[in-house]
Amino acid sequence: MNKILFLDTTLRDGEQTPGISLTKDEKLLIAKEVDTLGVDIIEAGAVAVSDGERSAIKDIVKEGLNAEICTYSRAIRSDIDYALDCNVDSIHLVVPTSELHMRKIGKNSEEVEDMVIESIKYAKDHGLIVELSGEDASRANLDNLIRLYKKGEEYKADRICLCDTVGILIPERTEEIFSKIKKEISIPIAIHAHDDFGLATANSIIALRNGASEVHVAINGLGERAGNTCLEEVSSALKFLYKEDIDIKMEKIYKVSRTVSKITGINVQPNKAIVGNNAFTHEAGIHVHGIAKDPSTYEPIKPELVGRERRIVLGKHTGRKSVEIALKGFGLEFSKEDLEEIFKRVKEIGDRGRRITDGDLLAIAENVLALSYRQRVRLIEYNVVTGNKIKSTASMILDIDDKEHIEADVGVGPVDAAINALRKTISEITDISLDEYHVDAISGGTDALVDVSVKLSRNGKSITTSGVDVDIIKASIDAVISGINRLLK
Ligand code: KIV
Ligand code: ZN
Repeated sequence: MNKILFLDTTLRDGEQTPGISLTKDEKLLIAKEVDTLGVDIIEAGAVAVSDGERSAIKDIVKEGLNAEICTYSRAIRSDIDYALDCNVDSIHLVVPTSELHMRKIGKNSEEVEDMVIESIKYAKDHGLIVELSGEDASRANLDNLIRLYKKGEEYKADRICLCDTVGILIPERTEEIFSKIKKEISIPIAIHAHDDFGLATANSIIALRNGASEVHVAINGLGERAGNTCLEEVSSALKFLYKEDIDIKMEKIYKVSRTVSKITGINVQPNKAIVGNNAFTHEAGIHVHGIAKDPSTYEPIKPELVGRERRIVLGKHTGRKSVEIALKGFGLEFSKEDLEEIFKRVKEIGDRGRRITDGDLLAIAENVLALSYRQRVRLIEYNVVTGNKIKSTASMILDIDDKEHIEADVGVGPVDAAINALRKTISEITDISLDEYHVDAISGGTDALVDVSVKLSRNGKSITTSGVDVDIIKASIDAVISGINRLLK
């Protein structure tokens, strides 16, 4: 394959994910993050969307990022004028190409061709780079499509793109189409794939192996419906399986994925390739045993290569080896019999359907090994007032090292307010960061028991602990205080 260009469309197609609507500050933040990955082109938005969108695109342009900044543009003069006003480097010039899509705008293929010629001429006269894209091209008549791309090339478009708008391509057809286009077109060819059948990554790679040299991607596979080709998947497959020399900074991938997930509010499914929570997590005994001997037994690549860490979690499928590794990780000493007893208790909790946090394991171990430690922080009292327009407020009294401390703080909701008040109260003795927060309802109904697990860290040490209560605020406070006590040991 020739050098592969990556066009990241997280801020355009990705933002079209149902439920996402980004402010201009959020868009700028994502653009800066995506730029650290070394993508070649950032599709920063669609100029026709709104004043706010144009203002966000202008801010991104002003940031002077390494990537070429591009906007989606229809083949109409006003969109190209907006693009010029935003000072972008390039336009992603999109026209309908299937009968169905041309009918949608009431044009036939000759009229679409005229629109393309006129738009390319205008954009090129004004110094823009042009990527001509065929919308629904995977369902278009291939000869007509190639004729349109050839016109684009003749009028000096810089790149062309085939959109599999509704994700219906299969790898065999992708190979056929791209091989045919490649024979007729000399400018770079891109693929814009959708994941409606879970084939976006496969189709993108096949396209790249058969004439395409640019791939459209989105972080976490965001995008319309089932999303676009996922940057993390396609770049990892190219780098680690196809051994392609791509320019993506693989070790930054996880951080960017987390940031995008936080900003957009769209969680990554736990079993998602490369960036899912479970992608480098092991629980089953036999796997952990193998991993302890040689990580490659059950890992395709080292987690560090994509900015991740290996995690061993305990649960129903845990083996003795996992418990042993976890206990040693906490610096505990134990006999074979102790290990057997701790292992038995871990299994009992797992069989009850509960996840076992580090805090749970330590509590079991301390019990079996007859260890005790002083709890430096204890909850005396808390009070939370929830608000709607006014933020929620929490006040809290803690006993810290046998002295009462009282503080109050606000938050976006009652749990946030309570945790903020708690952190403020203990801030005199230590600084703790809350890295993860997870809630599970153990039973149904409004009186359900909730199980809150948290991951806290302090001075490079981290711990997961949990709290269970019918009250989510109390469960959260218990989980955090339990973690704080463990970290203060
Ligand atoms: O999927 C698609 O067809 C698109 C185009 C509008 C570029 O996103
Ligand atoms: Zn799309």
